[in-house]
Amino acid sequence: MKERLTAQKLKSLKGQTPLVWITAYDFSQAQLVEEAGVDVVLVGDSVGTTVMGYESTIPVTLDNMLYHAQMVRRGAPNTMMAVDLPFLTYTTPDEALRSAGRLMQQAMADAVKLEGGRKILAEVDALIRHDIPVVGHIGLTPQSLHSMGGYRVQARTQNSIQLLVDDARALCDHGVCSIVLEGIPDRVAQYVTEVVTVPTIGIGAGNQTDGQVMVFYDCLGLTSRYPKFAKPFADLRGSILQGLSQYQAEVQSRAFPDDEHSYHVPDKEWEAFWNQREENH
Ligand code: KIV
Repeated sequence: MKERLTAQKLKSLKGQTPLVWITAYDFSQAQLVEEAGVDVVLVGDSVGTTVMGYESTIPVTLDNMLYHAQMVRRGAPNTMMAVDLPFLTYTTPDEALRSAGRLMQQAMADAVKLEGGRKILAEVDALIRHDIPVVGHIGLTPQSLHSMGGYRVQARTQNSIQLLVDDARALCDHGVCSIVLEGIPDRVAQYVTEVVTVPTIGIGAGNQTDGQVMVFYDCLGLTSRYPKFAKPFADLRGSILQGLSQYQAEVQSRAFPDDEHSYHVPDKEWEAFWNQREENH
């Protein structure tokens, strides 16, 4: 069994074999990702869109994250677990501490992930000062959906590339253990990876980051629509639909349950019942 990574160990893995992160949202998914041996399981606020059916991550609450993180922790006790702080739960250093504290104490998170660069440094400082490992997340940050004007690839102009690089450097200088780079051009992600000393984890950021993260449902082919950067490595949606339609057909034709999937009573017992049935009624 692989050793559960700590934030310190994670930092030391920069530049080595690419790190494998994946999201999970419940006990059974977490068991599977632990058995597969991924490096880090992320309880993402993408739970809002993938599991809860919201259009964005904005309605996700801290209680929602706690509920899902507790399930994931039970399913993957030996895997480093990072948990997202959802929208508006880290607007001040005190609020960030209270929110992250709940994830650390009530779900046994190993790290929390916050979206944003220099604008959240005071919150990052407060967390790290209180021994809470922090994962940064810059580029396309879904919680900023409205200010980005939609889910758009970021850092495509000279100015915005420089701003992103400055954010990455600042997060790194302030002590984050890793930085998720989402929805940015591959060359930009490669440059950021070269200039920071912590592992960068890409999603829609090309293949030169220190690792990759994927959303569980995208990775395993469990949705009907994929972002451009997502590659399904299995067709679970197809398998599930196929299984459901076979179940339906076999129930309707009485092929299921067959003998093998039914319980039986010994003939002797049945005959005794039959012969004296309803006698006392
Ligand atoms: O919420 C999430 O799943 C994430 C990943 C996409 C990085 O933040």
